[in-house]
Amino acid sequence: MKHLLTSTFLAIFSAMVSFASTADYNIVPKPHNIVLLPYEGVELDSSFTIVYPYGNEKLKRNAELLSEYIQCLTGLCLNLSTNDTESKSIILTDTLTDRNTEAYRLSVDNRTIHIDGASPAGNFYGIQTLRKSIDANNDGKVRFPAVRIYDAPSFPYRGAHLDVSRHFFPTDSVKKFIDVMALHNVNRFHWHLTDDQGWRLEIKKYPRLTQIGATRKGLHIRRNTDDTDTVTYSGHYRQDEVRDIVRYAAERHVTVIPEIDMPGHMLAVLASYPELGCTGGPYKVWTRGGVSDDVLCAGNDAAIRFIDDVLAEVVELFPSEYIHIGGDECPTVRWKECARCQERIRQAGLDNDSLSTAEQKLQNYVMAHASATLASYGRRMIGWDEIIDGGLFPGCTVMSWRGTEGAVKAAAMGHDAILTPATICYFTASQTEDRKNEPYAVGGFLPVRKVYEFEPTSEVDPKAQQHIIGTQSCLWSESLLDLPQALYQSLPRMAALAEVQWSDPAQKDYGNFAARLTGLCNHYRRLGLPFGTHIFDVQGSLEADSAGGSLMLTMHTADNHPIRFTLDGTMPTPQSPVYDSPLTIDRSTVVNARVFRPSGQSRLYTDSVTFGKSTFRHIDLLTSPARKYTVPPMTLVDGLFGGNGFDTGRWMGFEGTPLIATIDLGKTDTVSGVDLHTFVSTSTWIFDTDNIKVELSTDGKTFTTVYDNTFNLPETHESGIRLHSVAFSPAKARFVRVTAGCVTEIPMWHTAGKGKPAFLFVDEIMVK
Ligand code: ACM
Ligand code: ZN
Repeated sequence: MKHLLTSTFLAIFSAMVSFASTADYNIVPKPHNIVLLPYEGVELDSSFTIVYPYGNEKLKRNAELLSEYIQCLTGLCLNLSTNDTESKSIILTDTLTDRNTEAYRLSVDNRTIHIDGASPAGNFYGIQTLRKSIDANNDGKVRFPAVRIYDAPSFPYRGAHLDVSRHFFPTDSVKKFIDVMALHNVNRFHWHLTDDQGWRLEIKKYPRLTQIGATRKGLHIRRNTDDTDTVTYSGHYRQDEVRDIVRYAAERHVTVIPEIDMPGHMLAVLASYPELGCTGGPYKVWTRGGVSDDVLCAGNDAAIRFIDDVLAEVVELFPSEYIHIGGDECPTVRWKECARCQERIRQAGLDNDSLSTAEQKLQNYVMAHASATLASYGRRMIGWDEIIDGGLFPGCTVMSWRGTEGAVKAAAMGHDAILTPATICYFTASQTEDRKNEPYAVGGFLPVRKVYEFEPTSEVDPKAQQHIIGTQSCLWSESLLDLPQALYQSLPRMAALAEVQWSDPAQKDYGNFAARLTGLCNHYRRLGLPFGTHIFDVQGSLEADSAGGSLMLTMHTADNHPIRFTLDGTMPTPQSPVYDSPLTIDRSTVVNARVFRPSGQSRLYTDSVTFGKSTFRHIDLLTSPARKYTVPPMTLVDGLFGGNGFDTGRWMGFEGTPLIATIDLGKTDTVSGVDLHTFVSTSTWIFDTDNIKVELSTDGKTFTTVYDNTFNLPETHESGIRLHSVAFSPAKARFVRVTAGCVTEIPMWHTAGKGKPAFLFVDEIMVK
């Protein structure tokens, strides 16, 4: 008996130690073509060797990185070799013939794993795929099923931007960021090195740029105020550190594109060299956000020399074909007043015309000069889309951030363009609507799904689509103090954009992506990378079925883990029912749902429906909502409240026009009141209603007013959701007409909107 127990134990133990996890090639970004083959594949263990071609230094470095990845994920320590007769091996080559130089083929048979790239970069992406196919939750041996994968990126420019001016990221943080890019097959690092709040790049000819321009008095950047803390905040990269980062990036097949933002966003320069500004200063390195009126004096020859001198050192440091020279948000108020700038306008013949002002042309005079300087070094420029405003010039590539129009225009005119529309690519926005429980975020709500669904060329004429060279995420660091914060904002949205940048758009499928993302998030955990877990919360939707007079509740979570829910307002527990198919909701209900995973419980999903006399009754809207805020009239009687944000789809918005609607209760009933909510945010011109009137009728023709009340306008800014609960003497009625007045003239204390019509937002009319 004892003997039997021991041998059973040994059998279990040996099964445990020889247990191999199985690789899954369904990774992010999705490879273009995966064909699983009907034989066993290989089991990777420590007897494997990574083989690279003798003398190929780039593949040797790839091999070293692959060895590090494998060791970090599995604990297996593989040797490197140039002997391709090794029996068990991962073979790296770069001999694939393919039009796409970043393509690779990954083949697994019963003996070897072979990654053949069309270049060392292509080989590196095959390595990333191999690495991500390993289950990051397991150590030890890995079984790789036999497979043939062919893969190549959709776009050549796959960027990630990091602003190191507003907050400084030390070299180690920058390297980690580059590692994260590599994990996502992102190959262009847009390094925003200079801005009003700090110049971060050592320039030998202008030492004060980093002696003065890299330091400010204040850690925090607040948008609309100069009030800040008194922390002395400083940081810059020495040229040897820059070279080290450029080399580090190149080993990971990432090209570093530095941005020297000009002629705006230059207060750090002016603080260092006040003579380069129109007024001569004094200036200081800014401690606030926003756009400064003080910019480079475009009429000053010394300022033009400054640009040339800086770019001369920049091209020495950065081998990239592209150098970004900014061009965004450059006010022209100083230039209008500056004698030197006006003289430059005269001398260069920069006249106002129907497309551009003389000052906009002056901006492009500066940009075209910098572009020509770069061209003299065999380089090309990228500029933000404002460069279109002053007329495009030869050789410029446009980075479109104010929407996609800039790229569409540039491509139509035969210029290359990169898409970074702020509403999709600025990862400083919040990953959830629940902003109370999130780090401070700027730019609204930007869920992973919205990034995933981005189609960069959808608005571009097919003939011009080849000019859309790619897309890029941007991390502006006013609100990001360090790398963990930057990564939290970036992940997993970078994965969604990676799929847009790399994968075949014809295979787009969010559910499929979300399932694959689970595996990548395990890699994030393994690598200690902070990331937003919102997609693992319950994503619920309560949609009105107007015909059926009910609502449909659907719920989903990225990894399809069971969702536990209640419909009675109590908190779900691990014993609550599991959601398995859409539910019909036809009475007042509070939905609460949550996922319980071994790693912990998700955030609570909660929503509610309130049924009353008027819910799902016929409604006639007698006035028109604002075009942008039109929702179906049924929205006002679907039992759903609007929620926190006028753009949830549950609020109807009016501009200067009252809401007037008649609800047919279907039969005569006793009514005694009406409830309605308004969404108020006077700073964005959304005011509360200024008048509510209720009229009743039994025949739909003759109405009697039972309530009519006018409200005072506010005298200061207000925001929030207001409940208007109107009561009147009970009366018989079948038709209830409700009027909610909209402020037609915003009061005088409101500096931006005074005298203009306000918006009115209403979510629901509940007859009681
Ligand atoms: C930008 O966001 N100012 C490019
Ligand atoms: Zn000037």
